[in-house]
Amino acid sequence: MPDPARHAALCGQLRSLIGADSVLTDSADLAPALVDHRKLYQGQALALLLPHDVEAVSRVIGWCNQQRIGVVPQGGNTGYCGGATPDESGDQLVLSLRRLNRIRAVDAENFSMTAEAGCILANVQQAADHADRFFPLSLGSEGSCQIGGNLATNAGGLNVVRYGMTRDLVLGIEAVLPDGQILSNLKSLRKDNTGYNLKSLLVGSEGTLGVITAATLKLWPRMRSSATAFIAITEPAAAIALLARLRATTGESLSSFELIPRIGIDLTTRYIDGVSDPFAQRYAWYLLCELTSAGSEPLQDHLQQLLADAAERSEVLDAALATSERVRAAFWKLRETIPEAQRHFGPSLKHDVSVPVASLPRFIHEASEWVREHVPDGVLVCYGHAGDGNLHFNVNRAEGAPSEPFLARESQIKRAIHDLIARYDGSFSAEHGIGRFKREELQRYASPAALSAMRAIKHALDPNGIMNPGKLL
Ligand code: FAD
Ligand code: MLT
Ligand code: ZN
Repeated sequence: MPDPARHAALCGQLRSLIGADSVLTDSADLAPALVDHRKLYQGQALALLLPHDVEAVSRVIGWCNQQRIGVVPQGGNTGYCGGATPDESGDQLVLSLRRLNRIRAVDAENFSMTAEAGCILANVQQAADHADRFFPLSLGSEGSCQIGGNLATNAGGLNVVRYGMTRDLVLGIEAVLPDGQILSNLKSLRKDNTGYNLKSLLVGSEGTLGVITAATLKLWPRMRSSATAFIAITEPAAAIALLARLRATTGESLSSFELIPRIGIDLTTRYIDGVSDPFAQRYAWYLLCELTSAGSEPLQDHLQQLLADAAERSEVLDAALATSERVRAAFWKLRETIPEAQRHFGPSLKHDVSVPVASLPRFIHEASEWVREHVPDGVLVCYGHAGDGNLHFNVNRAEGAPSEPFLARESQIKRAIHDLIARYDGSFSAEHGIGRFKREELQRYASPAALSAMRAIKHALDPNGIMNPGKLL
């Protein structure tokens, strides 16, 4: 049972520690921080903390460690696994990073930037652009997720095929460890072999090993030419053949390679304003593919030639090249609003899976057959980052079907899909993380050795278990 007198006393101590304006307890202020983006979890909290700087974060975490109070770091709260939501006890604190939102430095010559954790991803991209540089992390949620949340989840997104996941974009990190110490390693070095890689450990730790407060990020030259195509293909196998040829012939310039099913177009054109089908005819599968370069290579010509060759092989059925920035943006809008359109369509079961790229067609075939046979009240919406072997193998409730029996089978459907993924040597969490939603999956599919190493790391750094309790492990 919550103890109001104890809670009031604790909040009083917090106010003297970090200032009254940084400790919110009003239920209207707390409400948005207590529920996750998908509305799977509704938590309670002692308070919402809004520290102004890393020193205040350090004081709070040190105090929480002494008091044995659980802390849930929260960024833009766009995560899909309930990782930023407190539990139902009302005894945990939510620590929002949103006031740590300064770009501390942009070093164009060194191709690096230091940004605080609470910077919105779109602002980080923009700061790079202002310095004639490029920061490649790009997600549908980039207008609201924070770079700290991206680091904590090791986010993937639309440009991984060329630049890698968030972990690959980081040079240095600043974090507050569970005992309150500030780990300050914002060096902008490309080479630094000095012991265990703590930066890599914190990236992807989902708030369970500390609070990330800033990072030094890698930048690239600003892109000056691009070629973007919306392509209709015969089947997923054609996508993989085209991907291999693109990679082999365009070198580093392939930056996005996204697979879209017909239903992705049906849903976005139905629910999202301004989205239209790029073709007059309907096809079963599509690709959105982009080449970019900081130089002035004739990327359009190259892509056009490649698509013509693929058409001769009957892999490509139709293709539309973006002839202007407006058309390019329209293609991307279609792709990026699939999750939103899916939400309008009704409840869905999300599976963020990956397999070795070459196995993608076989997996899609086998898993789709399973869904067709076993989920007659569901509709498959399978799209994603095909260039990375990452699919959002989502199953929506079929139109008109009752929600309750559909949702009641979530664990059974999830089990079948994830067991199949394990047989493909794949991952049940390619880019969205574990949080609270996939904890049981981690216990089931991770090896005993991996699990015991993870538990040992957690215990060594956070022996009192104050950092994001009940998440990941
Ligand atoms: P939150 O949701 O606030 O937190 C996520 C986790 O990180 C929690 O465990 C939290 O405790 C922890 N955390 C947050 N900030 C910190 C910090 N400073 N220090 C320590 N821990 C912290 N994800 C992808 O990977 N690829 C996609 O393509 C993609 N597309 C998306 C599209 C849409 C429309 C939406 C809504 C989401 C999408 N996501 C995608 C999921 C989500 O946006 C990412 O996981 C993102 O990285 C989460 O960032 P956030 O700031 O919202 O973090
Ligand atoms: C995406 O790639 O659009 C997201 O990661 C998937 C989703 O939002 O479900
Ligand atoms: Zn994704």
